[in-house]
Amino acid sequence: MNEIFHVIIKFTSEALALSRHINNLNKSETIMSQFILLYSTKDGHTLDICNRLKPIIESHDHQVVLKDLDVFNENLEEFDSIIIGASIHYGKHHRRVYDFIKKNQKILEARPNAFFSVNVVARKPEKNKPDTNPYLKKFLRQISWKPQELAVFAGKIDYQRYRFLDRQMIRMIMWITSGPTDINTVVEFTDWQQVEAFGHHVAKK
Ligand SMILES: Cc1cc2nc3c(=O)[nH]c(=O)nc-3n(C[C@H](O)[C@H](O)[C@H](O)COP(=O)(O)O)c2cc1C
Repeated sequence: MNEIFHVIIKFTSEALALSRHINNLNKSETIMSQFILLYSTKDGHTLDICNRLKPIIESHDHQVVLKDLDVFNENLEEFDSIIIGASIHYGKHHRRVYDFIKKNQKILEARPNAFFSVNVVARKPEKNKPDTNPYLKKFLRQISWKPQELAVFAGKIDYQRYRFLDRQMIRMIMWITSGPTDINTVVEFTDWQQVEAFGHHVAKK
């Protein structure tokens, strides 16, 4: 009886030691990646979205560098994962987004990558997915890069920020699409929970 008891104790302590060892291995093998978050913005909302994504990705023990795509001139190859976010103005992402993707396509394809688009059409539930948002669908037809992860986030309207002509144009678009037309409107259509979920998702890739 004493012997059986002894064997059980020995087995249990060896199992505990093994479990501690595996635990330590897992800790030391956690891979920390260097992410680059590149944004193309006109009025700052895509940057706001990136500023929400950054701490989320960092909470997964990654490092995140946030840069304006317009002025980015570092070596993209130094990063392990690349995320690009760009807003829509008058139906298009900025020309520089196309140029950047074309120039860096091989580097993008060689590592985990993601793209998200910001526009106000995405405030409509039937147009807020990568395969239902007209701008993202068109954009993907125009480029040959196929982002591994895609998202569409609804943007922001702030009439007082816009120049006179832009304000009138947006009001007209909003009137046609049953959106807010009061020139004092400041409205964020962004679903921040969706943004955060995207952050966790890309960080786990
Ligand atoms: C001049 C102007 C034109 C816009 N054109 C469109 C458009 O064609 N379609 C759309 O869905 N949203 C359009 N928007 C809404 C923007 O996509 C939205 O405001 C977004 O949050 C802007 O992001 P940014 O601040 O990062 O540039 C437009 C906004 C402005 C000011």
